[in-house]
Amino acid sequence: MSTQKWTPQSWRNHPILQVPDYPDNASVAAVETTLAAKPPLVFAGEVQKLRSQLGKVAMGEGFLLQGGDCAESFAEFSADMIRDSFKVFLQMAVVLTFGASLPIVKVGRVAGQFAKPRSSSFETIGGIELPSYRGDMVNAIGFTEGERIPDPERLLRVYEQSVSTLNLLRAFAQGGMADLQKVHGWTTDYVSDQVQATRFQEIASRIDECMSFMEACGVTAQTSQSLAETDFYTSHESLLLNYEEALTRRDTITDEQGWFTTSAHMVWIGDRTRQLDGAHVEYMRGISNPIGLKCGPSLETDDLLRLIDRLNPDNIPGRLTLIARMGADNVHAKLPTLLKAVQGHGAHVVWCCDPMHGNTVKASSGYKTRRVDDIMREVEGFFDAHDEVGTYPGGVHFEMTGQNVTECVGGVVEVTEERLGDRYHTHCDPRLNASQSLELAFLIADLLKRRRDMSSGLRKVS
Ligand code: PEP
Ligand code: CO
Repeated sequence: MSTQKWTPQSWRNHPILQVPDYPDNASVAAVETTLAAKPPLVFAGEVQKLRSQLGKVAMGEGFLLQGGDCAESFAEFSADMIRDSFKVFLQMAVVLTFGASLPIVKVGRVAGQFAKPRSSSFETIGGIELPSYRGDMVNAIGFTEGERIPDPERLLRVYEQSVSTLNLLRAFAQGGMADLQKVHGWTTDYVSDQVQATRFQEIASRIDECMSFMEACGVTAQTSQSLAETDFYTSHESLLLNYEEALTRRDTITDEQGWFTTSAHMVWIGDRTRQLDGAHVEYMRGISNPIGLKCGPSLETDDLLRLIDRLNPDNIPGRLTLIARMGADNVHAKLPTLLKAVQGHGAHVVWCCDPMHGNTVKASSGYKTRRVDDIMREVEGFFDAHDEVGTYPGGVHFEMTGQNVTECVGGVVEVTEERLGDRYHTHCDPRLNASQSLELAFLIADLLKRRRDMSSGLRKVS
């Protein structure tokens, strides 16, 4: 099947999982036609820039920070929410830049992350069974029959919300907020009296010192753009392929002339839809965007190598990011084997750690949660595995929000199981709050520093 010609529609001839069962196909087709006439969200030049930055990450010359909501929603949508998440993201990136002395490639799970794969097609509450909620892109979260009916008009609403979100993010990234001279202002109000905030303010003060020094040397945000603004990219799981197809365009501006999805800079294949001959792999093999592939504990080595060959036949560094999500208890046993096989295959990939999706548990109160300790343990296990094999831990992928939610348990400012109900707002999986996100960033910075010190120690010895 894979040898057949690729077109933006060729996925339609392949078996597909996790798609909604719409009651009326004619209205789906009408929405697809409307979407196909819409302007692109992102541009080929930006997509290529991200791919080349990820290419450097693949070679150990950068680090990928990818994160955001598990699922964006129509209800949790406001300028303040986008701003707060963006600020936490910037703080994490600064902490990592300081720890790693490496460029940090910033990619949000945002402006399109609305559709969710589900383990079960149905949900039962109090003896009543209804179709599962599949994200605001498909149906509504309320537990009534009407709300759970998939509605294709939601694709258009997702597009419109993504346009507004991206517009704001571009303004934040390039219109002054990301200016390193404003680093002290990036803390959100509710973390300002906490341990991480103090650690962060120490870094911010050191950055201020560096900025004053550079200003004295004649380098300021006015003379050097990179101090005043940042590159911030968007990404989502490419689950609803009719949405992607409608936004797939041929690149007419750059020399590449390939096809790419203009729905986001980067898109990824979920752990439940990575079948070699399935529709999702078929669609993704033909677009030129950087793509991700989630690698869960059930992924066999041979299948991974076949997927790599199918998705990145020209072995372009930066094209493929493998997002390992093994779970804290599995990472030591499962990951080194995959790392060795990919290394032996000579494949250029970015290895990224998603410490969230293999560590979801149910609290006794019934809330879906994750323990910060497990998240940290998986990140440490990920770094250990790379040390063991001699490969490069190139990034992290996590679910977070700038709001003061109580969805993951633990952390320095501890969220207990009893307090989960206080501010549990997620539309799908539990997210790290701002304070927990910063804690994670400090841990990763320490791990990156450890690697740097180890390799400079080795250089001195040799
Ligand atoms: C996700 O990233 O929200 C997700 C569903 O992940 P996975 O495909 O790894 O389960
Ligand atoms: Co999730």
